[in-house]
Amino acid sequence: MAEIIDTRIEPDRAIERACAILSEGEPVAIPTETVYGLAADATNADAISHIYEMKGRPRFNPLICHVSDIAMAEKHVEFDPISRRLAEVFWPGPLTLILRQRPESTVHALASAGLDTLGIRMPDGFSRQVIARFGRPLAAPSANTSGKISPTSAAHVEADLGSKLKLILDAGPAQIGLESTIIKLDDRKLRLLRPGGLDVAEVEALTGLTVERSETAGAAIEAPGMLASHYAPGAAVRLNAEDVRQGEALIRFGGKPLPGESEAAIVLELSPAGNLREAAANLFDYMKKADASGAATIAFGPIPAEGLGEAIVDRLQRAAAPRAG
Ligand code: TXA
Ligand code: MG
Repeated sequence: MAEIIDTRIEPDRAIERACAILSEGEPVAIPTETVYGLAADATNADAISHIYEMKGRPRFNPLICHVSDIAMAEKHVEFDPISRRLAEVFWPGPLTLILRQRPESTVHALASAGLDTLGIRMPDGFSRQVIARFGRPLAAPSANTSGKISPTSAAHVEADLGSKLKLILDAGPAQIGLESTIIKLDDRKLRLLRPGGLDVAEVEALTGLTVERSETAGAAIEAPGMLASHYAPGAAVRLNAEDVRQGEALIRFGGKPLPGESEAAIVLELSPAGNLREAAANLFDYMKKADASGAATIAFGPIPAEGLGEAIVDRLQRAAAPRAG
């Protein structure tokens, strides 16, 4: 079973143990402000292959490399002026940039799945201190079995991967609760590969550029988070419910009761005041709670697809998508 160290109580021991295990080429679960990550030395092929094995993840999915500062990022990727500005303003934070990998970068091709680009981000929170001490980028997907809901607490990680892991660092619930926004710059055009914890409107306001949404989301597997049926709970998912059917779990938003709630297996409110930040932070935890209620279907009340709601609705549509075998 995994050892769990609370970083708020024993920060020094947490960093020491994490770095020792990472140096042995083993993954460690680390807290970031978006979701918990399954981190390994991005320069060590063996360490990276452990991530893919633990997650049961298809090898063609590239991983995000996490750095502690821009100087570390610069050793591995080439910044153009626009990406540099985005990094300066939004890092540390929930933004992943897809940039050309430098020929001299020591990040292993297994992390980038052989692409000539790297997904790179500087996370906020305790994980950044771990990376700074480790001194090399950490490749880290979300710390969950492939295709399942991302973990926003150490308890989520323990329930899913606790028997396979040596160490989980516990920094409390993730503040943002949604994975990072992924943006790629092509010919001075910004493309959104995955909506996430950073509102795209903030990127547009800073750069004065329009961020293009992919028309073919899910068709071209440029960011496999774009695959249909991702982030899936065990139960079926019904979106934009206007009422609740007997025995369903209900997850609603904005404090508005739906007809039939007294017949629901469980009723969870993402944000009574209709605050999308609060809703994002609660989303994955509530999906797990609704799943655990044993209901065969989780009904979601309507959620506006604006601002952070774009990422929330994206995750819900994937959760509701037809499942592969
Ligand atoms: O918030 C997050 O981004 C979390 C935390 C742990 O940092 N990480 C995360 O990683 O969500 P993961 O592996 O679940 O999702 C990474 C996404 C995938 O959809 C992958 O395809 C995309 O990033 N990606 C990584 N490198 C890429 C590249 N070079 N080109 C295009 N997409 C890339
Ligand atoms: Mg993931």
